[in-house]
This record gives sequence, C-alpha cells and structure tokens, in this order.
Amino acid sequence: MILYFAPLEGITGYIYRNAYEKYYGHIDKYLALFMSPADNCAMNSKERKDVLPENNVGITLVPQILTCKSKHFIDAVQELQTMGYTEVNLNLGCPSGTVCAKGKGAGFLPETDKLHAFLEEIYSFGNVNNVAISIKTRLGYYDAEEFTDLLSIFNEYPIKELIIHPRIRNDYYKGEPRLTFYKYAMEHSKNQLVYNGNVFDESDFASISAQLENKPRHVMLGRGLISNPELATKLNGVIRENLFDYKRFFEFHDCIYQSYKEIMSPDIHVLYRMKELWTYWKTLFPGCEREIKHVLKAKKYVEYESALRQLK
Ligand SMILES: Cc1cc2nc3c(=O)[nH]c(=O)nc-3n(C[C@H](O)[C@H](O)[C@H](O)COP(=O)(O)O)c2cc1C
Repeated sequence: MILYFAPLEGITGYIYRNAYEKYYGHIDKYLALFMSPADNCAMNSKERKDVLPENNVGITLVPQILTCKSKHFIDAVQELQTMGYTEVNLNLGCPSGTVCAKGKGAGFLPETDKLHAFLEEIYSFGNVNNVAISIKTRLGYYDAEEFTDLLSIFNEYPIKELIIHPRIRNDYYKGEPRLTFYKYAMEHSKNQLVYNGNVFDESDFASISAQLENKPRHVMLGRGLISNPELATKLNGVIRENLFDYKRFFEFHDCIYQSYKEIMSPDIHVLYRMKELWTYWKTLFPGCEREIKHVLKAKKYVEYESALRQLK
C-alpha cells in the first residue's frame, strides 16, 4: 500500500512532519499545508518556511496551492521550482466559508467553465515546464451528482494523482464518505486515484475496501494518523503487535514540544499547538480523562509538564 500523509492546517507543518518522520516514518509522500498566492506575492514567509527544502530534509513533500487564478498558481509553481520542486498539488477541497466565498478550494467546483479554463492553462504550463500537478478534490459543492461532470473534466488532463475525499463541501468532515461515488471514480477515472477519508483503524480500511469491492492501493491518511501515529505502520504490516508503544510516543511528543519551544513564545502559543494535538491523542489514553483535562487546561509550561508526568 502506498501511504500519504494528508495536510491538516495548524497541525502537519514542518515541525510535526520532521518529528513524525523521525519516530514513525513509512510515509511515501506528505502534502504540505496550502499556500494562497496573491498579486505580487507567490507565498508569504510562513508558507515559504514550511516548504523550504532545509526544513524538509529526507521528506518527500508536495507543496499545495489554493487559488482560482491560473496566474497566481503559475507564480507559486515558478517560485517552488527555484526550490527544486517538480510536483505540486491543487486544492479543490477546502470547505471553509471564507475560502469558498472567494471561489477557491471546494468553492471552485461549481464553476465548471472557469475550472476548465484554469486547468487548461495550468496543465499546459506544467507540460512545457515539466511540473507534475496532482489534485485533491471533493465530489462537489452542493450535491455529489456534480461529480460525474467534474470527473469528465479531470479526465481531460494528465493529473499526476487525483486525490478524492468523497464528501461534498456541505458535509465538511462529518458523516460517512460517499463511497459509491469513489467507486464510480475507480471505474471511470483515467488518472491514478488516491483514496482519502475516515480511515481511523484497520477495520475502517477493511470495511471501506469491502464497500469499494477493491482495496485502494494509494491511501491518504489524515485525522486517523494524527490520532494514532502507528496507524500507517499497522496498515502496512510493519507493526503487528497490538500494544501501543508509549515510550516512542512520548519521545515523538517531546520532539514536537521542544521544536515548537525553539520557534515560538510565550508558553500559551506553544501550548495551543500541543493542545490541538491532544484533542486527537486523547483516544490513546483510555481511562485517563482527568489527566487529559489537566493537560488541556495548562497555561504555563510547568503546569503542562506536570500534567504530562501524570500520564507517563
Ligand atoms: C483541521 C483540519 C485541517 C485541514 N487542512 C487541510 C489543508 O490545509 N489542505 C487540504 O488539502 N486539506 C486539509 N484538510 C483535509 C484533510 O487533509 C483530509 O482531507 C480530511 O481530514 C479527510 O481525511 P481523514 O478522514 O483521513 O482525516 C484539513 C482537515 C482538518 C480536519
């Protein structure tokens, strides 16, 4: 199985990626958090820092671009080429209200004529300049039935990989993925597919594969892999035993915590990042609700570290 790490804004930046790669690894590709190019600014300093090759040593990273303007897309790609990137990803899935209101992310999906013209321009640029472009998409904006038209548009282009999160915009991240539409894509896509959505454990993957009547070979993991950092190694059969390795987990945790402390201050900003992670990690500590509550309430490093000692 080929496994990709999904981008999660606020979580899977370069600090997290480096720590993950060091302690767990076995990820074939990481997608970076999206950059939103603007007039005269292909990427801001935070976006640049996240994709700088020196911040991603030993990691196969694909930068992601969120825009509905081909000029902005091409400006960002040209900047990324100077850093050595030869593959980029287009975000057609972000459901956020502010993003969609600007016609970007999932907000681009209903504008099929505009999307068509946009893809024409970026793929001819990619062809001439040897840049591979993958797409991460939803099934549609209002209705999953939109997907048939979208897929026939996608089929006109040499999409490096079509990563499908089989939900519509209004689903956000809730409910069951609409697998019948992913199955339709498996039957009709001319491009390589990557499945993404709701794989939290091995039984989810088995159930999704059964419903699709086929095991997806390329899978992108998001929340499931944050919640259980051993998920990729389990799906790939690298780890077979059922006991979770807490020692490795806390080394991984400490690596992320120390790295954030080096680039951020005061305490509250670092702890905000760590608490976001703990909202996923808490499932690794059944029966420790009281201790987790202390972790989530900490406002200073000393309080946080003391709450952690209770968990260790
Ligand atoms: C908090 C959060 C932030 C996300 N940020 C991004 C992003 O920057 N780019 C993107 O393409 N998808 C983003 N996503 C979507 C995920 O990459 C992924 O498609 C989604 O979580 C479904 O996969 P999962 O069920 O494995 O988590 C985000 C999702 C969440 C929950």
